[in-house]
Amino acid sequence: MQPGPIGIFDSGYGGLTILSQIREQMPEYDFLYLGDNARTPYGTRSFEVVYEFTSQAVKALFDMGCSLVILACNTASAKALRTIQQIDLPKIDPRKRVLGIIRPTVEYLGDITQSRHVGILATSGTIKSQSYPLEIKKLFPDITVSGEACPIWVPLVESGEAQSEGTDYFVRRHIDNLLAKDEEIDTIILGCTHYPILYDKIRQYTPSHIKVITQGEYVGRSLVHYMQRHPEMDALCTKQGTCRFLTTESVDIFRSYASIFFDSSIEVQSIALK
Ligand code: DGL
Repeated sequence: MQPGPIGIFDSGYGGLTILSQIREQMPEYDFLYLGDNARTPYGTRSFEVVYEFTSQAVKALFDMGCSLVILACNTASAKALRTIQQIDLPKIDPRKRVLGIIRPTVEYLGDITQSRHVGILATSGTIKSQSYPLEIKKLFPDITVSGEACPIWVPLVESGEAQSEGTDYFVRRHIDNLLAKDEEIDTIILGCTHYPILYDKIRQYTPSHIKVITQGEYVGRSLVHYMQRHPEMDALCTKQGTCRFLTTESVDIFRSYASIFFDSSIEVQSIALK
């Protein structure tokens, strides 16, 4: 098997917030980002459709030389990861790996919450899948988890409205809803890769004693440890510090919107998934 870049997949632009943080911690590695921008959002789609789209994307990244793919999308991690790992990978190539971003986020939670009451803000798909409460219960059975779906936040971010006044209304409403479910919450996880773009507004409407956690730093840290534990995978990842981008939308559209999420010029190519 030839070494290649690490594949990073998201339904759209949100995974760029994860990619930035991973690159900060692993600057020497090569990355190939794929955004399924033509079919985003995934958050309101069924299990079957999210699985089908995600597995097409994973296969495309494998075909382009990746041995390791990170699903930098909570919705895909919640709805497609397990089936891809258990059913698809053994058939495609058992040496390849696909990792999600829910487990790495949850692993660090035990040291962060003191009240042991945690809130999750995420897409409808991620909340309905119960992936966060299930993962948290496995590692920290004493933590109580409440979730709130914020279906309008991704469209607001993707349409460039993150800083608009109207967005304040929806940010505040979902935070208030979440905190009304459990007033002992002392930690909120932003369980969608788009939400860091709304961080300032989320912080503004969240009481100051509550910690607001974004995922990128934890996912990066966890990937560094993964490479240390798996030298055989590390040897399959090239290291020249490059980063390339693929989109299912047009190159021009990707370039203009990607600048909201990613702070440098990008080399992008359009592909079709099937
Ligand atoms: N970025 C995806 C996530 O983290 C949400 C975007 C979507 O709904 O497609 O869940």
